[in-house]
Amino acid sequence: MRKKIIAGNWKMFKTVQETEQLITGLKRELSDYTKVEVVVCPPFVNLPVAADCLVDNTIKLGAQNIFWEQEGAFTGEISGPMLKAVGVDYVIVGHSERRQYFHETNETVNKRVKAALKNGLLPIVCVGENLAEREGGKTFDVVNDHVTGSLAGLTTEEMQKIVVAYEPVWAIGTGKTATSAQAQEVHKFIRETLAKMFGQPVADATRIQYGGSVKPENAAELTAQPDIDGALVGGASLKVESFVGIVKNTKV
Ligand code: PGA
Repeated sequence: MRKKIIAGNWKMFKTVQETEQLITGLKRELSDYTKVEVVVCPPFVNLPVAADCLVDNTIKLGAQNIFWEQEGAFTGEISGPMLKAVGVDYVIVGHSERRQYFHETNETVNKRVKAALKNGLLPIVCVGENLAEREGGKTFDVVNDHVTGSLAGLTTEEMQKIVVAYEPVWAIGTGKTATSAQAQEVHKFIRETLAKMFGQPVADATRIQYGGSVKPENAAELTAQPDIDGALVGGASLKVESFVGIVKNTKV
């Protein structure tokens, strides 16, 4: 049984004070709700305060990126040991905004995934096509490249620590959600790709989240699909009510 996982990607939103407020609200609503795994991913500077707020809580903490070296002269970067020392559990890797604005490639995503694993962090690896690729009939080719490139060289044991997030770029922050059938079709394809790479049992055990304009209103239908194991939520993760609504509407 794959436990559903809902992660909030706060992107570049929330100050330290706002982080405390939001997490306090989430704890009030979700601390006793363990049917779904819940993760919050604030910006780097808010991770220490978030970790303090979440001590002994079931809500887990995630970062939004990681650099692949352990330490060194890499101005502006954050390493795995630093994240681990703060108490981070998960790390988002290869988000489409990183691929689009910061020139990340499958190769650099792969290096970051390996750095996360090396430091005992659980990667949430993002894949997904943009609008031109979808309209050009290239969705499966692009998703295949993202999955095979980003997860290249992992052992089956390492793969068991990975969450994959399918995020069609055209559905992110646009209010345009993929229909549950469109999402399910790609999730199934991702699971088949994982089966070819790592074997059927590992593919069957891997959680694949959907991301892109997930809201309380569409969370139930999306997560009722056989291959959709949760959501990576952007905009709707910034308010207690909408994020809690998604968690509680998730089909378990
Ligand atoms: P959205 O973002 O929910 O605001 O569409 C999802 C994401 O980018 O992870």
